[in-house]
Amino acid sequence: MSDPKEPKVNERMEKIVSLCKRRGFVFQSSEIYGGINGFWDYGPLGAELKRNVKDAWWRSMTQQRDDIVGLDASIIMHPKIWEASGHTSTFSDPMVDCLLTKKRFRADQVDPQSGTAYFYTGATAGGKTCNEPYSVLVPPGKPAESARKIACQFYTARGLENPELQGERSEVTKDSTRYNPENGSLLTDPRPFNLMFKTYVGPVESQDNVAYLRPETAQAIFAQFKNVLEVSRQKPPFGICQIGKAFRNEINPRNFTFRSREFEQMELEFFIKPDEVAKASPASTEPIAEGQPQPQWGWKEWHQYWVDERVRWYESIGLSRNTLEFYWQKPEELAHYAKATVDILYQFPFGTQELEGIAARGDFDLTQHQKFSGKPMEYFDEETKARFVPHVIEPSAGVDRLVLALICNAFQEETVTDEKGKTEVRTVMKFHPRIAPIKVGVFPLLKNRPELVKKALEVRDLLRPHMSVFYDEAGAIGRRYRRQDEAGTPFGVTIDFDTLGEKPELLNTVTLRERDTMKQTRVTIEELVPLLVSKIR
Ligand code: GAP
Repeated sequence: MSDPKEPKVNERMEKIVSLCKRRGFVFQSSEIYGGINGFWDYGPLGAELKRNVKDAWWRSMTQQRDDIVGLDASIIMHPKIWEASGHTSTFSDPMVDCLLTKKRFRADQVDPQSGTAYFYTGATAGGKTCNEPYSVLVPPGKPAESARKIACQFYTARGLENPELQGERSEVTKDSTRYNPENGSLLTDPRPFNLMFKTYVGPVESQDNVAYLRPETAQAIFAQFKNVLEVSRQKPPFGICQIGKAFRNEINPRNFTFRSREFEQMELEFFIKPDEVAKASPASTEPIAEGQPQPQWGWKEWHQYWVDERVRWYESIGLSRNTLEFYWQKPEELAHYAKATVDILYQFPFGTQELEGIAARGDFDLTQHQKFSGKPMEYFDEETKARFVPHVIEPSAGVDRLVLALICNAFQEETVTDEKGKTEVRTVMKFHPRIAPIKVGVFPLLKNRPELVKKALEVRDLLRPHMSVFYDEAGAIGRRYRRQDEAGTPFGVTIDFDTLGEKPELLNTVTLRERDTMKQTRVTIEELVPLLVSKIR
């Protein structure tokens, strides 16, 4: 079934998925048992890439700022947290089941169908009757017989052998979402399906012991707000951020890792003064540069500030502004807690889709936890004597979606011609050096010359404390370059006979190859560390 908002996986996407498996970026989870829908594993290159993305986010949020601190909370928390947040009652998707096959769909993702609908009041067989009404939609031009065949299967499944259909009537139908697009069978009415994974804490599987795998990391931050506030000596405006796993029992996982059932989030909850407190704040006596936070900023200014900051960060890891789009949610689309939400979208090969949501959550969460826990969540400002529950701006990004966007963004096929005039397609992953899984490949020109190998291993050991290095001595040098192109390694260092002093003026120099331009320059071994470090940081 396809979603009108998410076009079918195209050829480019197929190539990307195949490269991900072939090169060890992403594998299907439990593949040897046929896989498990909505779960993915990251292979050697994917694990490095993901780690680099998370490190870059963490550094930009915590280590490069004074006003944000980190948290690493548990995945299973007190179930009251999800009552307070509204997840127990409202975190659900409307879902429909096929009455024939029991296959489940998200109601809002069923493609509209047109044709003739055949209705039955029931069926009989050998003195038995089933009075359950049923209907089947057949596409234009298809005979009534095909509807009858499906209807007979339906009543057979209800215990009637060779059923005789009752009360058939037909109706021309246009754009109906009541039928399974795969077989025309009627679907159930939509029912809410809670997306939280349930488990039991302790040995007894009773209602009292029900707990949930967190569907977002955010709530732990709200629940720990007071503790963090106390120990960090921060005061609003300030933020608490977290990276961690989240779980959602998505009805329709799709588009490779884009919508998974287990994924990671990078979330910041940035606590600000309510508008009425902020606007009354004294103006700063210091001159403040344009765009820099001001004491009187209300939620709208902070919201815009975080949208700008997040875009800057995406640019810093290689997603240029022109690959991103912004979607301001309409009032009727906003989550129950949000005053405004901007989605940052990326142009995936399967459609332009959300990478991150930046929501202005007001004081909803802290107020709810105050109510449900009975513990005060207010902040008292000694200076102004103001007492308030802080409001929140929340930039919330998915790690896996971002990794997928970076993979899609990096993937390129180029036609190249070698010195002998032979053309071939070069597959190259043009990752920004900051997030590339491997930063540099080190190659002795020939593996059967111990002096070259020895020098190459020395260079590897020189670089290793500063960056991830891949040493490769197997095969022709061109083949080794191509392997690293596919892995997205931005630099290659080759140790040849000149390195050993065949041309005395080139002693202790190596060739440095740049992945994107394939240009090679000669640099001294001494220069390598500072040169490469300046490009990967
Ligand atoms: N705390 C707010 C929150 O969780 P969300 O829009 O539901 O908001 C935030 O999720 C981000 O988490 C999304 O923008 C997306 O990047 C990621 N995400 C959500 N559901 C996902 C899924 N099923 N698979 C992969 N990533 C997902």
